[in-house]
Amino acid sequence: MNPRLKLRVRHSGLVDLSFFHDPPDGNLFIAEAKWHVPFPIRRVYFINNLANRAAVRGKHAHRKLQQAIFCINGAFTLHLDDGRTRQRLLLNDPSRGVLLGPMLWHTMSGFSYDCVILVLASARFSERDYIRDYGEFQRLSRSAKSGTRSTRRAAR
Ligand code: TYD
Repeated sequence: MNPRLKLRVRHSGLVDLSFFHDPPDGNLFIAEAKWHVPFPIRRVYFINNLANRAAVRGKHAHRKLQQAIFCINGAFTLHLDDGRTRQRLLLNDPSRGVLLGPMLWHTMSGFSYDCVILVLASARFSERDYIRDYGEFQRLSRSAKSGTRSTRRAAR
């Protein structure tokens, strides 16, 4: 990942972990909840064996879930879409992850043969929290924006 990268999409952010490089005896990376990762970690999952170079994962957004996604080995491309802005990031640095906040459509592709993805999540698994239909995501995203405007109007 470009070290000077700026995220343009909403509902996201960079997550920088602490690390100790100790060659040739290994590297140690640390993610503490509410320190490196801005939410309590309630679930951890990882994805490996990405042997199919044409694999595409994700293709959904979440209603409430917060996640931090890391490429802890190899590389992949993360595509983000907040309903208004799209951004494509190369994840190839285990110390630098990306926050996937609610209402952020995300897709992963371009996996290197040795890619391992680690995800830290703020809640237990719930299929009801998923938005898997892109049209529904766009509708909800638009109504959330207009909801903000009407709340502001109501507050005046
Ligand atoms: P999904 O989140 O769609 O995977 P990806 O975004 O990497 O493509 O999950 C794939 C399947 O695994 C789906 O049937 C739901 C299930 N699953 C669980 O049961 N628990 C979990 O914690 C996760 C992340 C997925």
